[in-house]
Amino acid sequence: MAKAYQGHILYTKDPDRFEIYENGAVIVEDGKVVEVLKTLPENLEALEVFNMGDRLIIPGFVDLHFHAPQFPNLGLGLDKELLPWLEDYTFPEEAKYSDLDYAESVYTRVAKEIWRQGTTRIVLFSSVHKESTQLLMSIFDRAGLGAYVGKVNMDRNCPDFLVESTMDSIEATKAWLEATVNLYPKVKPLITPRFVPTCTSELMRALGDLAAEYNVPVQTHISENQAEVDWVRELHPESADYATVYEDHGLMGDKTILAHCVHNTDAEIEKMSKLGVFAAHCPNANYNLASGIMPVRKFLNAGVKVGLGTDVGAGHKVSIASVMSTAIQASKIAWLNSDRTLAPLSTSEAFYLGTKGGGAYFGKVGSFEPGYEFDALVIDDHRLGVTEGRTVEERLQRFLYIGDDRDIISRFVSGDEIMEPTK
Ligand code: GUN
Ligand code: FE
Repeated sequence: MAKAYQGHILYTKDPDRFEIYENGAVIVEDGKVVEVLKTLPENLEALEVFNMGDRLIIPGFVDLHFHAPQFPNLGLGLDKELLPWLEDYTFPEEAKYSDLDYAESVYTRVAKEIWRQGTTRIVLFSSVHKESTQLLMSIFDRAGLGAYVGKVNMDRNCPDFLVESTMDSIEATKAWLEATVNLYPKVKPLITPRFVPTCTSELMRALGDLAAEYNVPVQTHISENQAEVDWVRELHPESADYATVYEDHGLMGDKTILAHCVHNTDAEIEKMSKLGVFAAHCPNANYNLASGIMPVRKFLNAGVKVGLGTDVGAGHKVSIASVMSTAIQASKIAWLNSDRTLAPLSTSEAFYLGTKGGGAYFGKVGSFEPGYEFDALVIDDHRLGVTEGRTVEERLQRFLYIGDDRDIISRFVSGDEIMEPTK
C-alpha cells in the first residue's frame, strides 16, 4: 500500500530555491516518491498515513567523502597541514585496521554516528586492509545505510607498516571486488587509489582497468594542498596537470569523485565538467589543514557536478548540516578576499549540494521529485526556540546552523525507516 508522510516538506529540485509544501504530504510507493501534494487527498483508503504534525520533512543528507578508519582521530592534530598530518596521525591510525576486532569496534561506532547525524548515503574510504573493508561494508549493510566503500590502494611514499606491493594491491583489490560487487543491495565497492603521491603509474593503470572490468566507480583526492600539487608535478612531468594524471590512467569518468579541488586550474575544471566527474567539497577539512578554499562557484559555473563531504578525520564534524554552513561561510570569505565575481552560496544552494548534488552519485537520490528514492529526515525543531511567526524555510535555516542530532526524530532510506544500529 502507498504511504503518505504529512508535515512541512522542503527539498531543492534546483539549487536556487527550496520547493516548500507547508502541511503537505509526500506519497511513497515501493520506497520511491510518487508525488508531493499540497494537501492530503480525500480518498484515503489506498493510503497508509503517517502524520508528522508540525515537523519538517527533508531529504536525507549525502556525504561524498569520509574516511571511516580516521574516526578515532576526530579533532586530532588539526594544527598541521596535510602531508605532516598524514604522516604523524593518519597513517599510524590506519595501520591498526589489520586487527579485525579493532576495526569492528570503530566501524560500529562510525555507523551509529553517521546514522545519528542524519546522513543516509555516504561514500567511504576504508584502509588498505581487505578484510576490514569487507567488515565495514557488512556493518553498513546491517545498518540499512546506503554506501560506497573503498579499499585504499597505496604502493609508494607511505610508511613500511602500510605500503602494499603493487602486485598485492592489485590482487587484493580484485579479490575484494569479486567478493563484494554483487553482495549487498545498497552497499557497493568503489576503486580507491588514495592519491597520486602514494600510487605508482602501474598501480593506477591496473586500478583504472579494474574499474572498467567490474563497472565500479572511483574515488580519490586532488589538489587539496599546494605542497601536494607541487609534488605531483615532480612525480608526473609527463602529464599536463594533476587531473590529467588520473585521466591518463583511466580513472576519470562520470562516476569518479575527486575530493577537495582547492587548487585546480581552469583547464582541470573544464576537464572535470566535460568528463562528468564529481567534486566533493570538504570545507571543514580545508579550513582545518589550512589547505585553502575551494572556489565552488567556479565549479558550478563550469557545470561540474558538486556534492559535500565531511572528510572525517581532516574534517572534525560528522554532520553534513555543519558542512553546509561552513560551505556558505567559506564561499563568503572567498568572495570577500579573492574574487568578487564568485557569488557566495545561498542556503538553498548549500542544501542542494548536501542532498541532491551528492545524491546524484547514487542515482535518483536527494530530492522528493517523482521517482526519487524516499531518503528522508523528520526534524522536530521546537528545541531550538520560537517557531511561531517563522516560515518553514526559516525554521530549516535555523536547524541547519544550530540544530543537531537531538532534533532528528526519524530517518528513512528508500522508504524504510532505519533505526539506531546496535552492533
Ligand atoms: N590526501 C591523501 N590522503 C588523505 C586523507 O586521508 N585525508 C585528506 N584530507 N587528504 C588526503
Ligand atoms: Fe580525504
